[in-house]
Formats: sequence, structure tokens, C-alpha cells
Amino acid sequence: MSSVSVGILGFGTVGTGVVHLLTEEQEKLQQQSGSHIHIEKILVRDIDKTRKIHFDDNRLTLDPDDILENPKIDIVIEVMGGIEDARNYLYKALKNRKHVVTANKDLMAIYGTELLQVAADHQCDLYYEASVGGAIPILRTLTDGLSADRIQKVMGIVNGTTNYILSKMNRESISYEEVLKEAQALGFAESDPTSDVEGLDAARKMVILSHLAYSVPVTLEDVRIEGITEISQKDIYYSKKLGYTIKLVGISELDDPYIDIRVSPTLLSTKHPLSSVENEYNAVYVYGKSVGETMFYGPGAGELPTAIAVVSDLISVVKNLNLGVNGHHIFLPKNEKKCKSPDSMKNQ
Ligand code: NAP
Ligand code: HSE
Repeated sequence: MSSVSVGILGFGTVGTGVVHLLTEEQEKLQQQSGSHIHIEKILVRDIDKTRKIHFDDNRLTLDPDDILENPKIDIVIEVMGGIEDARNYLYKALKNRKHVVTANKDLMAIYGTELLQVAADHQCDLYYEASVGGAIPILRTLTDGLSADRIQKVMGIVNGTTNYILSKMNRESISYEEVLKEAQALGFAESDPTSDVEGLDAARKMVILSHLAYSVPVTLEDVRIEGITEISQKDIYYSKKLGYTIKLVGISELDDPYIDIRVSPTLLSTKHPLSSVENEYNAVYVYGKSVGETMFYGPGAGELPTAIAVVSDLISVVKNLNLGVNGHHIFLPKNEKKCKSPDSMKNQ
């Protein structure tokens, strides 16, 4: 049986889940991918940190080139987060003809089109399923499962941290600040949770979903964004009394010839299917011209659910390697951008 070597950038919440699956589920992954998958190196910032999984050899490194310039490494898994370092490392990896799997929506929402082009130019794979919806295979659904349809609307709860906070505030009289701390301790929140609570994380995910749903190059400037920092127990109390639940909802809809994208706290009737999505769970509703309504639901954040999305992407890369078809799936925008800008919407 052939063997492939991976280098992992990052060994935090998601990286730990990925290493756990690659070590504990070796046989299953070998069966699925057709190859033995070996972890060659893992990049960290602090080599002395106590970690949930310990290696006796010198697998951890502080030097990104031990992965990016390492001829033994076929595939780079990026689970370190951030934008500029991650962008430079992935450029280098792709230029060195290493296939890439990333969970980084911040990066893909801003530099996705550029990186996908670099990947295509170098016949490399670039998969990023974990960047939206955690374990929900929503990117594959848009690019494969529903690719024959004309998507008209994508709507969803795509941030686990804010959904966890709002669900808990709805059930218990607990303050926003206290629940945020819990969400951080559980590994759902970003290292800087501002992007979660101010709606930026959800907006980045809506950019990625809109790009794939309508095949247009969408940017963050196209999204109207409002987070949950102003939501108080009082708001929750009155919305409940009126038969509503407050959720942070992202909506991207075709208003031909434009696309309108927004993220905001939304009052959902308790009969609405999205209102029952609780805790860190996510759900994405997709309306297609022919298929009608579809909905996808699952854990949207956390160590193992996110790692499942990353490692499933890894299996796809390894299968492509074995078939010699890497780079064939790259999905670049084919249509011109026609988004309603947030400024033009303010006057309506
Ligand atoms: P995390 O727990 O903060 O872990 C980040 C890891 O990357 C740490 O091991 C850190 O090293 C390392 N790192 C960060 N910057 C580095 C740099 N410049 N050079 C070297 N190493 C660096 O983050 P996470 O929650 O696992 O998230 C990772 C990525 O997955 C992010 O893009 C995030 O948005 C995405 N994601 C997360 C979730 C989730 O539920 N957490 C879900 C979906 C997607 P040290 O350990 O030495 O500090
Ligand atoms: N911070 C993100 C969330 C992680 O809470 O949804 C998953 O992308």
C-alpha cells in the first residue's frame, strides 16, 4: 500500500482533533483513502506547551519551512487560523506543489479566489469544507449535490459560538459575558471572539457560501453585518413572550440580477425550523429553483466535528493522488459580480 505524508500547521482545538483521528482511526482512513497517512511534522508557536496528545519524537516544529519546503510532505493541513501568515504559508505550499486542506474561513473569504487560482495553476487540490458549518458537508452540497440547480437563497445559522450564547441565554437567566466564557472554554470561539460576536465570522462564511451558490466573486464589503453584542436578557424575555426566538442568521438571496447578503440577529417564529437549532449546532437552508427547499444540520464547531470535515477533505486529496486527478475539482467563480452593496441598501 502507498503512503502519503502530511504536515499540519497548528495544533490547537482543530489540530488536536485532526491528529487524534489520524492516529486513532488509521485503519479506517487507510480503507477509505487507499493509502497509509503519516504525520511528518506539526507547526506550533510554543513548543513547550502541554498538549492533549504528546509525541516523543521531534514531530513538533517552530519553523514553517520544515513543512512548506519539506520534499517528504505531499499535503499541508492548515488549522492555525489568522490571515497573513496563513496566506503566505499556503501560497508557498501550493507553489511547492503540495495539496492543501484548510479550515480557515477568514483566509478563504478574503483570499479564496486567489488561492484557488494558484492551486489550479499548480494542479493542486485546495479543499476547505471545515471553513463553513463545521461537520456539515455544505460546500460539497453546493458544488456537487445541488450543482445542477439554480440556487436562489441560502440562509443559515453558521456561527456556533453566538448560537451557543443565544440558546443558553434563552434557557437560563445568565449574562452574555458568562456564556461567552463557556463557549471559549469549549473551543467553539475564535482566539479573538470579537469576530464571532460581532457577526464577522458568520459574514465570512456567507461570503464563501454565496461564492459557491451563485459562482460569483463575493467580498466582505458586499455583506451588511450586525452582531449580537447588544442583545440583552430583556430582548430575549420579550421575544419569548411574543413567540419568537432570537438567532444570528445569515441570508444570501438572489434578487435578479443582484445578490443581497446580510448577517443580523433575527426574530424567528418558534415554529420556524431554524429556531430549534440549539447550542453550537449550525443549520443551512438552501432554496433551489428546481429542488425547492433543502436543509442541512449538524455540529458547527468543536474539536472532533471540525476535524471530521478536515480529515474527510484529506481523504479526498489522497484519493485524487491515487487517481492522478488533483486540481480537477477547483471551483473558481464563473459569473460577474452583481452584489447589492450595503451602502445602496441603506437608502431602501
Ligand atoms: P486554536 O485552538 O487557537 O489553535 C491554533 C493553533 O495554531 C495553535 O496550536 C497555535 O500554536 C498554532 N498557531 C497559530 N498561529 C501560528 C503561527 N503564526 N505560527 C505557528 N503556529 C501558529 O485555533 P482552532 O480553534 O483550532 O482554529 C484553527 C482554525 O480552524 C481557525 O482558522 C478557525 O477559524 C478554524 N475553525 C475552528 C473551529 C473550532 O470549532 N474551533 C471550527 C471550524 C473552523 P500554539 O498551540 O503553540 O499556540
Ligand atoms: N468560531 C466558529 C464558530 C468556529 O463559533 O462557529 C467554527 O467555524
